[in-house]
Amino acid sequence: MFIKTTPITCNIFESYLEADAKIINFIDEISYKKTQMYTSFDALDVERDSNFKNLFLKLYSEWVVTFLKKVLKKQFKELQLLSIWCQKYEKESRHGMHVHHENTNYISFIWYVDCSEKSSNTIFYNPGHPYCSYFEGEVKPEKNKIIFFDSFIPHEVVKNNDTKRCVISGNFKIIK
Ligand SMILES: [Fe+2]
Repeated sequence: MFIKTTPITCNIFESYLEADAKIINFIDEISYKKTQMYTSFDALDVERDSNFKNLFLKLYSEWVVTFLKKVLKKQFKELQLLSIWCQKYEKESRHGMHVHHENTNYISFIWYVDCSEKSSNTIFYNPGHPYCSYFEGEVKPEKNKIIFFDSFIPHEVVKNNDTKRCVISGNFKIIK
């Protein structure tokens, strides 16, 4: 997916990555707090955050670097995983419109590690939405689907319809 009608280049890249049992066990055992959904996002839990990052990087850093070098069609020196978290959705859980970061050298991901046919889509909008509207794109959750997108692209999850929707999300800084 590519947002065309903007002077700002906005990318959404899609692939599939099978979740290792180690990462599934990790997200099953960490603690969650209830906001609009159950989330492990906690800026104060530095040790847990560090363990999550290290496990993800140990299992997938090579895959992520190879994939992003291919789709971004440019070389970069390094990818820094700044944050990673897990979200579990119940029926009627939602996630209001947000961006992950305003910098153009940040790239985020959403990895659908579990879902069903009834899991709600992630909806992306052009930057500047709702003050100007020229793009809207929906990503349908599929088990093991992973999407990478420029961190400044607004997106939301509308009311969910199942109890299975589970995503791992994170933000990378691209060092050129
Ligand atoms: Fe998000």
